[in-house]
Amino acid sequence: MHDSNMDLTMDAMWLFLAIFLITAIIIKIANARVTSDPGCTRPPPPMVNIIALLKLLPTLCTKGPEVTMTYLYNRFGSVFTTSFLWKRISFLVGPEVSSLFFQGSESEVSQGNMFEFTVPMFGPENGFAVDYSTRIQEIHFFIDALRPSQLRSHVDPMLREVEDYFAKWGEEGVVDLKDELNQILMLIASRCLLGNEVREKLFGEIYTLFSGIEEGVNLVSFMLPYFPVPANHRRDKARIRLTEIVYDIMRSRKTYGRVEQDVLQKLMDSRYKDGRRTTEAAVAGMIIALIFAGKHTSSNVSTWTGACLLTHTKFLDVVVEEQREIMRKYKDKIDYNVLSKMETLHSSIKEAGRMHPATLGLIRQTQKNITVRTKEGTEYGIPKGDTLVNLVMLTSKLSHIYKDPEVYDPYRFRPGREEDKVGGRFSYAIFGGGSHVCPGEAYAFLQIKIIWSHLLRNFELKLTSPFPKTDWSKFMLEPKGKVLVNYKRRHLESN
Ligand code: HEM
Repeated sequence: MHDSNMDLTMDAMWLFLAIFLITAIIIKIANARVTSDPGCTRPPPPMVNIIALLKLLPTLCTKGPEVTMTYLYNRFGSVFTTSFLWKRISFLVGPEVSSLFFQGSESEVSQGNMFEFTVPMFGPENGFAVDYSTRIQEIHFFIDALRPSQLRSHVDPMLREVEDYFAKWGEEGVVDLKDELNQILMLIASRCLLGNEVREKLFGEIYTLFSGIEEGVNLVSFMLPYFPVPANHRRDKARIRLTEIVYDIMRSRKTYGRVEQDVLQKLMDSRYKDGRRTTEAAVAGMIIALIFAGKHTSSNVSTWTGACLLTHTKFLDVVVEEQREIMRKYKDKIDYNVLSKMETLHSSIKEAGRMHPATLGLIRQTQKNITVRTKEGTEYGIPKGDTLVNLVMLTSKLSHIYKDPEVYDPYRFRPGREEDKVGGRFSYAIFGGGSHVCPGEAYAFLQIKIIWSHLLRNFELKLTSPFPKTDWSKFMLEPKGKVLVNYKRRHLESN
């Protein structure tokens, strides 16, 4: 036998031994830990054992997590449990089993310490670095700063950013829509959240620093947030510099008595229940957290909206006609009320979000034994300490809620159908629900509608790359690769 063949055989043997050993250890730990809690009065959910999981590995590798989870849902139902090493994970699919997940008290179901990886991203004086009561008060600051009455003042700055940005496109050309939308959304965030000082003078630096912060979202940082890998080092450097920039702005505003209309100002002026002012460090952390929470998600949904509309000409024609109708009534004027009339555009964005959420599921941890009741009426007991994953992506595709769920059909949300409402609370959960529902939903729709109404009025667009697939390698899902779009300038006539 040649030496190289011999090496290959040895390698294969070691690989086989390693897999065998790892599998044996996993089975042992799983069997040792996965016992139902005697305190649970209801039977446990169906258990997906390690052998079934290993058999699904090829499906996971070739078809991806959504198909794999759908298989498990079809086989085991809307609640099932599995274990990964020493951790029990219970999965929930559908609105019927989701109320406690979204609405349970902190002593029943909580976010636990699973978001600890965000502490070095946002700093030590806010979010998951502070106690629950302070965190909830900060979430109320977000809700107040982003409520519709406050959003009206953001329409003009958003419009200005969008007009200026697309004015730089030529008469015709090809662009990567994903990249373009990412940039414009960051410009809007700089203007409306951080304020004019950053937008005018420091945008380039902020853009780069934010990419550094985003490096903190990876598997290693998730498991070991402080492990000295280069990505964590870049994240820490970026946060320190971003914080300095925000401090400078706040101090300059205070020194010169300048008061702005942006979200930063609202956070600076917020007070905790006991009358304390927000500290500079807390405000800096909160504003970084807000930009982070809104940027990727909005860019993702706007890109999918483009990909869906440009491949479904029936709906593209309808949203263009809707713009014409609005122009007939309001000419070129766009304000908060005019934007609220763009109902088909709104549904088109909502439908793109339904089909392509930025996450497979949302995570919580049970703090005590809980009971969930399925739509068929079966009750299961889930023990204290389980990780809960609410598979919102699968909920969005349930055929008892959404007719032909694989079909892009914005009309499903229009009066007369309203499938999400008929399906019941939490049928549409891409913005979460209950106590931690996304406070930025209205802001997100506002900016995406402003961008898309501008694009529809001023450009003819064609998708030239294939319809994108989901990039499962990313922690926060996004369209895979470039989304190439051919544009040609036009001015939409209203008649
Ligand atoms: C299309 C865009 C967006 C999507 C799909 C989205 C989705 C979500 C989801 C699913 C959650 C709940 C997470 C959970 O339950 O664990 C959430 C929370 C949150 N979102 Fe959004 N979001 C979007 C835009 C925004 C924007 C623009 C902002 C801010 C300007 C924002 C700020 C937040 C914050 C601060 C939270 C945490 C709330 C809490 O923990 O109570 N989001 N978002």
